[in-house]
Amino acid sequence: MIKKGIILAGGTGSRMSPVTKAINKQLLPLYDKPLFFYPLSVLMLAKIKDILIIVNKGQVQQFKKVLPNGKNLGIKITYLEQEKPRGLPDAFIIGEKFIGKDSIAMILGDNFFFGQSLTKKLIECTKLTNGAKVLLHPVKNPHLYGVATTNKQKKITKIIEKPKKTKSNLAVTGLYFFDNKVIKLSKSLKMSKRNEIEIVDLLNKYKNKNLLRAEIIGRGGAWLDTGSIKDFNNTSNFVATIENRQGFKIGCIEEIAFNNKWINKNHIINATKFYGNCEYTKYLNSIINK
Ligand code: G1P
Repeated sequence: MIKKGIILAGGTGSRMSPVTKAINKQLLPLYDKPLFFYPLSVLMLAKIKDILIIVNKGQVQQFKKVLPNGKNLGIKITYLEQEKPRGLPDAFIIGEKFIGKDSIAMILGDNFFFGQSLTKKLIECTKLTNGAKVLLHPVKNPHLYGVATTNKQKKITKIIEKPKKTKSNLAVTGLYFFDNKVIKLSKSLKMSKRNEIEIVDLLNKYKNKNLLRAEIIGRGGAWLDTGSIKDFNNTSNFVATIENRQGFKIGCIEEIAFNNKWINKNHIINATKFYGNCEYTKYLNSIINK
């Protein structure tokens, strides 16, 4: 079982400048909570309790203001800084000590997932013992993402980063599961033209050994973009629509911890004191007063 996860929450968020000039994109509000609560909740739904959050240089204190540690969630949070963006596989080099001898899940700090069968799929992915697994999702504009072609056994036969032309509509989402070889393989990657190490090169190393599998989040689930201001806003509105219709919150990390039985009512009460008088606190109170 994969028990450790990394959230890669660095990057410049350049496509959302000027709003990302002074603040890390992952701290911006996706409707009613900071963006990184959503990928954090994905790892927590996968029952991952030991989590490394990688942020840009000098930003740890900012993140700690909203999530000082994992105590209120019954989990362990570690922060590390990335000197400068060196590509997604850099997460496994920065996180080498954290990963130790274990397998690892990695999610990009700006990825949003939603859907009823999501938790089941996530748990399935954490069963990985060797090789790598990615989550795929059908999209109308695959050329904006990594794109994969699969065979009937859910093995990936082809994977290309942002292809101009492709027959597949399956985008590679920013959620990955790797065995421990990922550290060594990431270190062996060569810098690409844009002077970064590329996730697609890492995935191709697994694919070439016939060790890259896929899990598909079909049309009943959602993987939404937060890359541009417009997409960020659309995803924010999606959260608002669902939350205001159902009365349930998406990405409420305390609720997930409570449902996982990692924390009790007292932890939630502590969280309400920490957040103060706000809508989020009202929601937390409603969970324990059910
Ligand atoms: C990165 C990956 C790409 C993946 C995407 C998911 O792209 O390189 O393969 O589909 O994340 O969010 P980026 O968004 O950094 O351009």
